[in-house]
Amino acid sequence: MDSNQEWQWANLQQGIESTLNIVANELKYKADVVKEYQVLPEIECLPSQINQVIMNLIVNASQAIGPERGTITLRTGLEGETVWIEVADTGSGIEPQCLQKIFDPFFTTKPIGQGTGLGLSLSYGIVKKHHGDISVRSEVGAGTTFRVELPVHQTKAAA
Ligand SMILES: Nc1ncnc2c1ncn2[C@@H]1O[C@H](COP(=O)(O)OP(=O)(O)OP(=O)(O)O)[C@@H](O)[C@H]1O
Ligand SMILES: [Mg+2]
Repeated sequence: MDSNQEWQWANLQQGIESTLNIVANELKYKADVVKEYQVLPEIECLPSQINQVIMNLIVNASQAIGPERGTITLRTGLEGETVWIEVADTGSGIEPQCLQKIFDPFFTTKPIGQGTGLGLSLSYGIVKKHHGDISVRSEVGAGTTFRVELPVHQTKAAA
């Protein structure tokens, strides 16, 4: 992660698309990707860090899908001064007793050597640095949806 980068005005949509290109190879055997995008304004952000968050969520979604082909749905929208993105999967879902731990550093349910348990903890930190929010809803056996909300303007959010 590039910690030297500057705050910039950037289009979230471009970040999602370039992230999708990076993980396309892993995704193509596991899931169909459905896109439900709204037109978004540029937001004030650290673009490569936001891309890192999107990447973590998409990789987690893909890893939650079992041997049977699943679906990953990417949604974006604008509500007032807040841009939101959702990454929804038809994977395993998250057990209720795990839900409150998933943002903790080193919490993982993946086999040793497969997950460090840092993806969501890093993502949480990045979203908070942007004065945003990350939330999750999940149903075991049905799937999981992560939602990231980011303010368009950082100065106003900080005030
Ligand atoms: N989409 C999802 N579906 C089901 N479980 C999930 C999903 N996303 C996260 N989890 C659960 O949250 C845990 C923590 O996720 P996190 O991304 O922080 O770590 P990881 O994926 O295990 O490892 P790493 O991201 O460091 O490779 C996962 O191990 C998994 O149990
Ligand atoms: Mg992960």
